[in-house]
Amino acid sequence: MTPPRFDRLAPYYAAIEAVTFGGLLQTCRTAMVADATAARRVLVLGEGDGRFLADFLAFNPIARVDVVDASPAMVALARRRVAGRPGAADRVRWHVADARQFAPPDPPYDLVVTNFFLDCFPAGELGPLVAVLAASLSPGGRWIVGDFRLPDGRARRLAARAALAVMYAFFKVATRLPAGRLVDPRPALRAAGLVLVREDCRLGGFLVASLWERTPAAR
Ligand SMILES: C[S@@+](CC[C@H](N)C(=O)[O-])C[C@H]1O[C@@H](n2cnc3c(N)ncnc32)[C@H](O)[C@@H]1O
Repeated sequence: MTPPRFDRLAPYYAAIEAVTFGGLLQTCRTAMVADATAARRVLVLGEGDGRFLADFLAFNPIARVDVVDASPAMVALARRRVAGRPGAADRVRWHVADARQFAPPDPPYDLVVTNFFLDCFPAGELGPLVAVLAASLSPGGRWIVGDFRLPDGRARRLAARAALAVMYAFFKVATRLPAGRLVDPRPALRAAGLVLVREDCRLGGFLVASLWERTPAAR
């Protein structure tokens, strides 16, 4: 089991995103940070080049964060970005690791964050990963998910399918991404004892920021 290789893509990642989606992905990543101002122990998976994290740490001055990403180049970019925020670097621990083989180091967390990360996994890997991450959340803990989704409506769905086919083909070649298509993470989140608190959709429902909460009864 080898993780995808985002290293070669890392220096161009923000530029590719700016050309394809403008600022919409960053809007999605940060749409729920106002709901996480009380979070103290935070686990971020697949952070990428640090744009969510830098904004989150500026917004939340008390959080201590474990960041897990398989790409050393992405982690290096994120570290540099966070170092530019006064007092932020000391609050982050970096883990270069494959999330599928990584035990969250300091549970329970009161916030888990996965932005454009769950879409990297095929169905068979997504469920077990979500279950492990959910188990690392405290009862009442929250989970921010930013991701693509197939929207309602025939025309929008067709357009989304076409865009996703191009994106997955690109990432397969560029990074050897294990997923070949988008898997809806909601069933896995619900099965792991999470309930949806709210969501914010962009681009006709193709981009979704959602906030989930672990029910106190979940084990
Ligand atoms: C599509 S990028 C998303 C980056 C960022 N979160 C964003 O919002 O754009 C996926 C990120 O997850 C990391 N990643 C993918 N698969 C991983 C895995 N199995 N374990 C750890 N990190 C992984 C990649 O290195 C990359 O930084």
